[in-house]
Amino acid sequence: MTATAIIQATTQPLTPFLKWAGGKRWLAEHVLDLIPDDFSTYYEPFLGSGAIFFSLQPKAAVLSDLNADLINAYASIRDDAEKVNTVLRHHHRQHTKDYYYEVRAKIMRAQHTRAAQFIYLNRTCWNGLYRVNLAGDFNVPIGTKTKVILDTDDFPATAELLSRTELYCRDFEATINLAGRNDVIFADPPYTIHHNHNGFIKYNENIFSWQDQIRLRDALVRAAARGAKVIMTNANHESVQALYNEGFSLTPVSRMSVIAGSSSARKAYEELLIVST
Ligand SMILES: C[S@@+](CC[C@H](N)C(=O)[O-])C[C@H]1O[C@@H](n2cnc3c(N)ncnc32)[C@H](O)[C@@H]1O
Repeated sequence: MTATAIIQATTQPLTPFLKWAGGKRWLAEHVLDLIPDDFSTYYEPFLGSGAIFFSLQPKAAVLSDLNADLINAYASIRDDAEKVNTVLRHHHRQHTKDYYYEVRAKIMRAQHTRAAQFIYLNRTCWNGLYRVNLAGDFNVPIGTKTKVILDTDDFPATAELLSRTELYCRDFEATINLAGRNDVIFADPPYTIHHNHNGFIKYNENIFSWQDQIRLRDALVRAAARGAKVIMTNANHESVQALYNEGFSLTPVSRMSVIAGSSSARKAYEELLIVST
């Protein structure tokens, strides 16, 4: 993408169409304040539900995630939102416990039916969780939510926004490597930390290893050196702080304190906002 500076237009708020573990809707205002008014391309290499992307609504973006079903849903809405919405409305009318398990077991071939299946399961499964078994089959049980069509749905506007994006199913590094001068990167990886005492991995190692955390830091340092603005969230742990001790400002943030306001004493600063300086 070109490096021409673009002033972002004022737009109507858009809500992410997915519920995603680690979603950053609660931090969106904070992150938006850190983004310069005039930047070139927005990069989000761990897209998930894209909370920051939907708040920002950039003129140009490169979005990616390792989850192929997730990227297919975005691409499908971009390419033909009405087709996805029609199948989703069908799921809405049919929804029962048996129907959920029937749809869950089906292999959908067309891009839009796979997308509608993914969104339907995301909205009706247990806690909006995404989990697959060793064979790669989605295996989350039905949850308590029964609404398949949401008041916040605006597929035409979502499609319009996505028409200004490049979408990829791939590892984060390939996306970060494209960012340069005047670009903005928002990186929200799965949280993995190094153990305090014996130097070994604590949790999430199977999803995102400590080696991945180092590879991510190195890619972000290179992008910042090329002139990109880097904003990331990560676990507020000394092992992560040590990774970003040069060239970045570190601010502990907590979902609880954002929700409860600054008067709250219940501040557990579990997350770290890391910004290139
Ligand atoms: C914490 S979630 C991002 C949440 C997102 N910020 C939101 O608002 O919903 C992390 C995402 O990283 C993706 N992921 C895991 N490993 C990855 C990798 N190596 N490269 C790219 N994406 C990866 C997961 O599929 C997941 O969607």
